[in-house]
Amino acid sequence: MSPENYTLAGSDVSIPLLGVGTWAWGDRSTWGMGGYDTALTLGSIEEAWNASIDAGVTLFDTAEVYGGGESERIIGQMRDHDPARASAVVLATKFMPSPWKLNVRGALLKSLRASLGRLGVPCVDLYQIHGPVSLRSHGALADALAAAHQAGLVKAVGVSNYSTKETRSIASELDKRGMRLATNQIEFSLLRRVPETGGLLAACAELGVIALAYSPIGQGRLTGKYSAANPPPGKRNFSNHPMEVVDAVVNELRTIGEKHGGKTPSQVALNWVIAKGAVPIPGAKSRSQAQENAGALGWRLDADDVAALDEAALPGIRNISSRVWQHG
Ligand SMILES: NC(=O)c1ccc[n+]([C@@H]2O[C@H](COP(=O)([O-])OP(=O)(O)OC[C@H]3O[C@@H](n4cnc5c(N)ncnc54)[C@H](OP(=O)(O)O)[C@@H]3O)[C@@H](O)[C@H]2O)c1
Repeated sequence: MSPENYTLAGSDVSIPLLGVGTWAWGDRSTWGMGGYDTALTLGSIEEAWNASIDAGVTLFDTAEVYGGGESERIIGQMRDHDPARASAVVLATKFMPSPWKLNVRGALLKSLRASLGRLGVPCVDLYQIHGPVSLRSHGALADALAAAHQAGLVKAVGVSNYSTKETRSIASELDKRGMRLATNQIEFSLLRRVPETGGLLAACAELGVIALAYSPIGQGRLTGKYSAANPPPGKRNFSNHPMEVVDAVVNELRTIGEKHGGKTPSQVALNWVIAKGAVPIPGAKSRSQAQENAGALGWRLDADDVAALDEAALPGIRNISSRVWQHG
C-alpha cells in the first residue's frame, strides 16, 4: 500500500504527497511578477493558494530570499484573508546560511524571527538550511537548528541542496543533539534524475529523511506548453537542456498521459516523482496550474510507465555542490 501522507521525522507534522512551491510569488527576476508575467498577481496567487488547499495540497514551501521576503509576506496575507482555510496549511521556509554569517546561531534565529513575522505565525512546521554554503561546521548548523527547536519556533528541521555525504553528516550531528533531520530539498525531475541514480534518494530513505523535489516540472519545461519552437520566458536555467532534447521527454509524458485517460504532461511528470518516494513541490501561479498539479494525486503510474520514463529521463547537468550552487 502506498502512503497517503508522510510524517516529518522528529515531529508530528503530517505532509501530503505533493506540495506547492512559492518562489514565483513576489519574485520579479526569474518568474516575472510585476514584469513579463502580467497574469501573475496577488489575485492569481490567492486563487492558486485556495485551489491547492481545497485539493488537499496543503504543504507550502517558501524562503526568506524569495522576492526578498515578499513570498513569505504574501503567504502571511493569504493566511489573514482566510484563517479557517489557512489552519490546514503546513508551512516550510528556509534560512540562507551565507558564508559571512559566521555567528550562524544568532543569524539563524534572527532570520527565523523575521520569517515568522512576515508569515504571521508563532512557529513554522519545517525550517530548512537553504544550501551547503556556510563556512561553519555541520555541528554549528545543528546547534543553531536545535536552538530554534528548543525555543519552540520550529517543529521539524531540514536542509536543501545537500549531497549524500552532507546529508549523512548533518543528520548525525542532529542525532547527537536529540534531533532528527526531516527533509532534504533537492532538484529532482525527469530533467535531473541524478539524485536517484547517484544514490541520494536511497540514502534519504535509509535515514528516514524525506526528499522534497524542487523544480519537479523542469521550471515549466515539462508541462507541454513550451517547446523548441516556443521556449520559456525569463531566466529559468536549472537543468537547462536544449529544448529539442526536452521535447522528446515531453512526448513520452504525453503518450503515457493518454494511456491514463488524458493525464497531462505535468501530472505524469509529478506522478513519476511521487513514484520515486519524493514529494514534489511544483510552483503554481494560478488556479488552473494549482488544480492541474493537484491532479497528480489519486492515481499511480504502473511499473512499465515508470520504466519508460526512467529511460526517457535526463541525468541532469546541474551539480549539487557548494561551488556551483545558486539558490532558487
Ligand atoms: N531549495 C532550492 O534551492 C530551490 C530551488 C528552486 C526551487 N525551489 C522550490 O521549489 C519550487 C518549485 O520549483 P520551480 O518553481 O523552480 O519549478 P517548477 O515547479 O518545476 O515550475 C514551476 C513553473 O511552471 C509553470 N507551471 C506550474 N504548473 C503548471 C501547469 N500545471 N501548467 C503549465 N505551467 C505550469 C509556472 O511558470 P509559468 O507559468 O511562468 O511557465 C510555474 O511557476 C519553488 O517554488 C521553490 O519553492 C527550491
